Amino acid sequence: MPTPADWYERGWPHVWLPYAQMKTAAPPLAVARTEGCRIILADGRELIDGIASWWTACHGYNHPHIRQAVVRQAETMPHVMFGGLAHAPALTLARRLVDLVPGDLDRVFFSESGSVAVEIALKMAIQFWRNRGQGKRTRFVTFRGAYHGDTTGAMAVSDPVDSMHALFAGALPDHVSVELPADDATAEALRRVLERDGENLAGIIVEPLVQGAGGMRFHDAAVLARLRALADRYELLLIFDEIFTGFGRTGTMFACEQAGVAPDIICLSKALTGGTLSLAATIASKRVFDAFWSDDPKHALMHGPTYMANALACAAANASLDLFAREPRLAQVQAISGWLARGLAPCRGLPCVQDVRVKGAIGVVELDRIDDLEALRQRFISEGVFVRPFGSVVYLTPAFTIEEGELATLTKVVAKVVGEVR
Ligand SMILES: Cc1ncc(COP(=O)(O)O)c(C=O)c1O
Repeated sequence: MPTPADWYERGWPHVWLPYAQMKTAAPPLAVARTEGCRIILADGRELIDGIASWWTACHGYNHPHIRQAVVRQAETMPHVMFGGLAHAPALTLARRLVDLVPGDLDRVFFSESGSVAVEIALKMAIQFWRNRGQGKRTRFVTFRGAYHGDTTGAMAVSDPVDSMHALFAGALPDHVSVELPADDATAEALRRVLERDGENLAGIIVEPLVQGAGGMRFHDAAVLARLRALADRYELLLIFDEIFTGFGRTGTMFACEQAGVAPDIICLSKALTGGTLSLAATIASKRVFDAFWSDDPKHALMHGPTYMANALACAAANASLDLFAREPRLAQVQAISGWLARGLAPCRGLPCVQDVRVKGAIGVVELDRIDDLEALRQRFISEGVFVRPFGSVVYLTPAFTIEEGELATLTKVVAKVVGEVR
């Protein structure tokens, strides 16, 4: 059995890290275990986690209820293919999700990651029109600042200019990228696009209330209401990507509830399993599903990831939903919102700070620029917290179970470290 030093030394030269220039990236921290809101390193140091593993671990790490559900499931059936076979964890989860999501979203297509959930939504939307004899409708309205994932289809509906995917300009399907309709002028600009291009468009895709990886930018619920009205008027499918915002992050179970509107297709992932296993769901309305319901085999949705509806992941998701049902998660988010607002307020007025904003359990300090991201990340670690700034933002998206004292440490360190910038 190799010692911890062995596994690190022997394996590190053979892994390729996410979003990293491998030549200059700092070597990753060796983690021994995770518990609650803590990451315990192999060298014994303990970090308070400010981002809940890319926004997934909403109940904190290693929650006993989810762990027990996964262990129980592993003992009977970790996985069985979903083609021609069904199992209780997946069907139970489908029923529960349909009961939770807004509107008449009714059919759950499982996959294993957020990007794939987006790919499936796009594919569903294009084929929805094709099955109805409108094969020209293949393009999507997308928004500046959007991020929908790293696979090619998802990259193509992300911001084509101001994003990490800009490098792929010209190599991806061409969609229509506009400003979010946040005011009369941008709403009118979008209306003109729909008037002009409507017959080539399949749908509109948006991250409700918060554009996450595109810069943690917030918009009002009115934007979503406008999009719903425009989608109805120009007969487009409206896709809400709630992969980041879903499951309480913005203060309601789903962000779109704050606008009182429902999409035709919703994409969920990240916190779906409470941060334990990889699972995603693309949920379609009855109207969307009905366009595939046919005697013609060519009208079927030809998609089926090998590990779709993985039983362990579905068991974890069911356990995560139990926790949402029985513990006061949304009240915890509300409390975190207040703590973030108070704790990050001192950042306002710091020389390099452009904006401080909070929505639900998301706290953002936007700087005019960050010259050395890697150095800033290391500085946070040296203060005993795990915070991972990107672009020009330092943000906190903690577990909803974080204690006030732990959050106060995070916000204090953010204010201190941001105060040292330039
Ligand atoms: C809104 C949104 N959509 C899609 C994705 C892609 O999800 P995944 O990384 O699981 O592929 C992300 C990931 O950050 C996201 O925030």
